[in-house]
Amino acid sequence: MHGAPSRPSARPQRPASGLAGLLFLGGVMTMFTVAAYGAADNDSSKIVGANACAECHKQEVEAWKSTHHFKTFREMPRAVRADKIAKTMGVRRVKSESLCLSCHFTVQKKSSAAEVISGISCESCHGAGQDWIKVHSGYSGKTALTESKAEASARWKLAEAKGMIRPHDIYRIAKNCYGCHVVPQEDLVNKGGHRAGSNFELVSWSQGEVRHNTWHSKGKENVPADAARKRMLYVVGLGVELETALRAIAKATVRKAYAFEMAARADDARNRLAAVAKAAPTVPEIARMVDLAHSAALKLDNASALTTAADGVSKLVISITEKYDGKTLGGIDGLIPGPDKQKGKARTAGAIH
Ligand code: HEC
Ligand code: HEC
Ligand code: HEC
Ligand code: HEC
Repeated sequence: MHGAPSRPSARPQRPASGLAGLLFLGGVMTMFTVAAYGAADNDSSKIVGANACAECHKQEVEAWKSTHHFKTFREMPRAVRADKIAKTMGVRRVKSESLCLSCHFTVQKKSSAAEVISGISCESCHGAGQDWIKVHSGYSGKTALTESKAEASARWKLAEAKGMIRPHDIYRIAKNCYGCHVVPQEDLVNKGGHRAGSNFELVSWSQGEVRHNTWHSKGKENVPADAARKRMLYVVGLGVELETALRAIAKATVRKAYAFEMAARADDARNRLAAVAKAAPTVPEIARMVDLAHSAALKLDNASALTTAADGVSKLVISITEKYDGKTLGGIDGLIPGPDKQKGKARTAGAIH
């Protein structure tokens, strides 16, 4: 990417023949107001910036610096393609208009002025830090050795109540990824020519260049997710993909690229989930997600049914994260993309901590 006009994608650019029929009986819909997307609905006045995290998390910051998330800060605004998209959208500076900011940059508000401080950063995924940064690292006022188990669990609970998104909370992590990697602004896609989203999959996209699991190994190793966690990442990722695509179709108003791509995405997610359901019959929630997805036609003017289906899918995904930990889901291993499919290379741990 980075300037390249288009990349090969496994996702069909135009609707597969079956979908053309599904989509659409037509109809006019009222336009939805598009709120800020992605970045955990971050409040820019609570952003502390990656430098504040770097005080303790040096290795994780180093890993981040070699990702597209970091580099987009300098590279995206210079891309010819960015200029084209911006011009058609009437955006004069991509670093100052909210349409691009919410997904490409981190904005920090100090007193009254807002400043774009980096690309997609720690807090885009872990939540704006101001209210939890001291809590999560404070060992309840003690040390790692003297803090009791009960105190530690109360500390984590408080940090999460104050907005921290932790790695164990796969649903919220995935919601963040998809909040940016599916682009729910119809005009930006149809008129601006922006991609409708990435060919995203949570295991392969989180275990490559994005991986920075160097903290709990004390900087010795960038530990890949283990088999059980990968299964959970895979299932939850697909569930959130389906949820996000259904909500995106609900916003479509015209039979153009945006609507077709979102319908193709939903169809693809529910097909892949159907395969997972077959391989994991002990998790009935997955088959229920697929049924729900088929209960709402992927067409224009169907916002209420699509939103109801998306809400149902969301509840099922959350209940899966509460009831299962992946250990019993070995049946789906053959469906999960292997290390050769990882997006980019994970940084090797070492040197600094
Ligand atoms: C003063 C040092 C310090 C700073 C600054 C700091 N952290 Fe941490 N962080 C820690 C410590 C200590 C732990 C581990 C606590 C434990 O394991 O009980 C931790 C753990 C974490 C974890 C893992 C949580 C888990 O569930 O395992 C994440 C994610 C994290 N920090 C993100 C951040 C982010 C993002 C920032 C900046 C907004 C930040 N930290 C700033 C010290 C710090
Ligand atoms: C909803 C989130 C979202 C919004 C809003 C958004 N982008 Fe993007 N953008 C992405 C994602 C995700 C990618 C990476 C897509 C991929 O995987 O190829 C991307 C990729 C790009 C690229 C590189 C790919 C290409 O098409 O050449 C450019 C340039 C770009 N965006 C410009 C913009 C501009 C300019 C704006 C504001 C007018 C904007 N984006 C708004 C999420 C967004
Ligand atoms: C693109 C989203 C994203 C960004 C950006 C991001 N993280 Fe993470 N972080 C994650 C995910 C996802 C995990 C869990 C990874 C896994 O399951 O393999 C994680 C795990 C962690 C952990 C636990 C590591 C361990 O040893 O297990 C720490 C600490 C952490 N992140 C801190 C940071 C800091 C500091 C930054 C900024 C330099 C940052 N993260 C940027 C998504 C992100
Ligand atoms: C705040 C929005 C945002 C969030 C949250 C986010 N991303 Fe991204 N991501 C982007 C954008 C925008 C790009 C494209 C940047 C560019 O190349 O200009 C991107 C690029 C990437 C790339 C590089 C893709 C390539 O073409 O090589 C990977 C991998 C990736 N993201 C994984 C993740 C994962 C995994 C998560 C969640 C744990 C996540 N992202 C969360 C916005 C986001």
